[in-house]
Amino acid sequence: MEFSGIDNMRLRTFLFWFLGFSVFIIIYKLNAIESDVEKLRFLKETLSLNKQQLQLTEHQLQLIEHLYQNKVGQGLPIIYAITPTYWRHVQKAELTRVSQTLALVPNIHWIVIEDSEERTELVTNLLNDSKVVYTHLNAKTPPFEKLQKKEERWTKHRGIEQRNAGLQWLRDNLELGRDKGIVYFMDDDNTYSVKLFHEISKVKRVGVWPVGLVGGLNAEAPIVSGGVVTGWKTGWRSNREFATDMAGFAINLNLILEKTNAGFSYKMEHGLLESEFLSYFTTKAELEALADGCTKVYVWHTRTETPTVKGTIPYLEV
Ligand code: UGA
Ligand code: MN
Repeated sequence: MEFSGIDNMRLRTFLFWFLGFSVFIIIYKLNAIESDVEKLRFLKETLSLNKQQLQLTEHQLQLIEHLYQNKVGQGLPIIYAITPTYWRHVQKAELTRVSQTLALVPNIHWIVIEDSEERTELVTNLLNDSKVVYTHLNAKTPPFEKLQKKEERWTKHRGIEQRNAGLQWLRDNLELGRDKGIVYFMDDDNTYSVKLFHEISKVKRVGVWPVGLVGGLNAEAPIVSGGVVTGWKTGWRSNREFATDMAGFAINLNLILEKTNAGFSYKMEHGLLESEFLSYFTTKAELEALADGCTKVYVWHTRTETPTVKGTIPYLEV
């Protein structure tokens, strides 16, 4: 089909106005976003300057900072890190290490659940001092499920009660469709690189990666072939459907909010907590192989030696 001179002219005029209008809309939108962030920054600074009159706590200010960073970070999903913790002499040292790593992660919401009757002063102070947005809960492990002095470590599950309390908090306080995020189980004694949280931020459904210093190997890792997870390199029962440590995966919050019955149970077989939990949500072939196709180690299953403490200085919180 041929266009006459007049048709050609009209087409050009139309294109000219169309492009002009599009550019105008884009500039207008960019300006709106810019001033939105500006307003938020102004509001944040005003609140911070007047925190005394407004009786704002440090925690509330942190929350405002968090909201601001999320707005600026545009789209970085919040990582809900669930950490069970219990009293022993190294507790404060472990939590200090973890909290100072998390202070370097802008999109974190730390859910700390104490294995205790009540929330303790030690953990309360530590969380208040940290620069991290947090939720502080407690859930005590029933005495008959607790490891006794003479029992082998592997004969009892750890962190069941506390992780379930963390999941319950998510389901009680967040809403499917409204809240976006990723859930990660973060034990208090492991060592975490900040790079791990960049990887977790990429999770669409369920992501996996290697974990260092675990299972009698230098690392356990998913086996990836053509981008797909086909199996596991582990020191123990690598035929498990999901032969990963708790530190080796993260799940989209949507899945946690959809599958309301998914959780941990004392009835689960020993060493199968992770595998049984993951079976609620995904198949092996659907897993997302993160950390450069599972070729990098960004988390280590470190364990701290129990120190011999022969005496205590009563006025020091250690
Ligand atoms: C391994 C896995 O890494 C854990 O994620 C898993 O829960 C555990 O095995 C298991 O099979 O139950 P491991 O290093 O042996 O972990 O366990 P811990 O680090 O001693 O405990 C895991 C988490 O539970 C820690 O955050 C710890 O503070 C907490 N915990 C432990 C309690 O809250 N109460 C306890 O009595 C013991
Ligand atoms: Mn551990």
